Amino acid sequence: MKNENLKISYRLALAFGGILLMLAMLVALGIPRDYLRAHCLKGVGAQDGTFLVAPHIRSRVRFSQVNLNQALPALGEFDVIFLRNVMIYFDIPTKQQVVSRVLSCLRPGGYLLIGHSESLNGVVGTVKALAPSIYRKPA
Ligand SMILES: C[S@@+](CC[C@H](N)C(=O)[O-])C[C@H]1O[C@@H](n2cnc3c(N)ncnc32)[C@H](O)[C@@H]1O
Repeated sequence: MKNENLKISYRLALAFGGILLMLAMLVALGIPRDYLRAHCLKGVGAQDGTFLVAPHIRSRVRFSQVNLNQALPALGEFDVIFLRNVMIYFDIPTKQQVVSRVLSCLRPGGYLLIGHSESLNGVVGTVKALAPSIYRKPA
């Protein structure tokens, strides 16, 4: 690689790093101070200006892949489920099955959030619509 190209790549990397840092700071701005103090670690030295979600939160995060069109594995019970824009191409019977599976993992009183262009009208009658795309399972 020529020197000039190296310089451009380096500048791009710096710019990209700067954008990521800016995004992290914007995210941090939306988090209440008490939560930041209790659940995030402030970067020092080379990490100055960044933050890291604390281990007690990170250790509770689990990634897994499931097919919503099949019986779900034992995932546990959730307070909130985000199912944004996942059902946009499903027909009504498929949506009904998916929502029923997902609701079985939602605790009573928990919230189900779907995409802004989606609706559960005619799909399920057991959840209460709180606002467009926000539903609550009865307690
Ligand atoms: C339009 S994307 C929406 C992605 C993201 N939730 C968002 O709002 O930007 C639809 C997503 O639904 C997922 N999806 C579609 N059918 C699925 C299924 N049967 N089980 C699990 N995920 C599915 C796709 O993998 C894809 O990630």
